Amino acid sequence: MKTAITELFGIKHPIIQGGMHYVGLAEMASAVSNAGGLGIITALTLGTPEKLADEIARCKDMTDKPFGVNLTFLPTVNAPDYPGLVKAIIDGGVKAVETAGNNPAQVMPYFKDAGVKVIHKCTAVRHALKAQSIGCDAVSVDGFECGGHPGEDDVPNFILLPRAADELEIPFVSSGGMADGRSLVASLAMGAAGMNMGTRFIATKEAPVHDNVKAAIVAASELDTRLVMRPLRNTERVMTNDAVEDLLRIEKEKGDDLKFEDIIEQVAGVYPRIMTEGDMDAGAWSCGMVAGLINDIPTCQELVDRIMAQAEEIITKRMGAMLAG
Ligand SMILES: Cc1cc2nc3c(=O)[nH]c(=O)nc-3n(C[C@H](O)[C@H](O)[C@H](O)COP(=O)(O)O)c2cc1C
Repeated sequence: MKTAITELFGIKHPIIQGGMHYVGLAEMASAVSNAGGLGIITALTLGTPEKLADEIARCKDMTDKPFGVNLTFLPTVNAPDYPGLVKAIIDGGVKAVETAGNNPAQVMPYFKDAGVKVIHKCTAVRHALKAQSIGCDAVSVDGFECGGHPGEDDVPNFILLPRAADELEIPFVSSGGMADGRSLVASLAMGAAGMNMGTRFIATKEAPVHDNVKAAIVAASELDTRLVMRPLRNTERVMTNDAVEDLLRIEKEKGDDLKFEDIIEQVAGVYPRIMTEGDMDAGAWSCGMVAGLINDIPTCQELVDRIMAQAEEIITKRMGAMLAG
């Protein structure tokens, strides 16, 4: 399939793996890229420019296909070495960057000069338009369904994607709730030029996370995610577990007085315990409602091939037959 996104990133299929903390390592990114999509390494999981440079080199040993790096801009007191991370990306010869969080205006000139294509992930049309105005090559439009940070507007993709299509000139991919060929065809119908998946890619053979995480996604239904940190205007969609239910109880008790310190035990530094050690009640971890559509743990190649075959079947056979009357 050829779309503005396959052309932009030089990939075979219009499928991107979104950056994911403690998931987006070289094993994940290379497996998605080898399957014909765009795999993404998550810079902040590596933390330092040196470790990111090593991970980029490791990924290059595992694939000769294009892959990207996610750079998430967080409102944090101890900011990571962003200039160093940008340099590691450029020096590593990476040609695609997924930015997220705050708008990436400060790093755009460096990426533009180095010929790096930037896709900015955002949850509102106004943010997508801002990304377009500062020179981003594409955007990833992340609906309310998504795992991770859906923003505060709560607009699901059936509205958000056509709204983005009506306003944007640059290409965009759908993100949030995407799982299969149906998701891809629906996204294309609503004006997207591809789709981004997070949660679906965690439940694959190559995802470098504990088997308990994959099993939890397969076992979960679309009713098993919760929104946390809403009172702090830092909403995150996570898989429910004992720690998350405790967190929600604390949020209710504290009301408007809630401070980050009140819930620090449930959210800070929990990713290694969950993703690496498989301690599924250690705290809050991002997961999309799409868990309800995930019932197996294929290889990335099997998953991507299946998505493309299903998309083709829907377009040519199912819809084709409807048109033929
Ligand atoms: C476990 C997990 C960790 C994530 N970490 C990040 C991150 O560090 N930076 C980022 O921009 N997005 C992150 N995301 C969001 C994904 O890149 C993607 O936008 C989202 O998962 C799409 O929704 P879906 O899960 O319904 O496919 C994360 C998502 C998950 C599930």
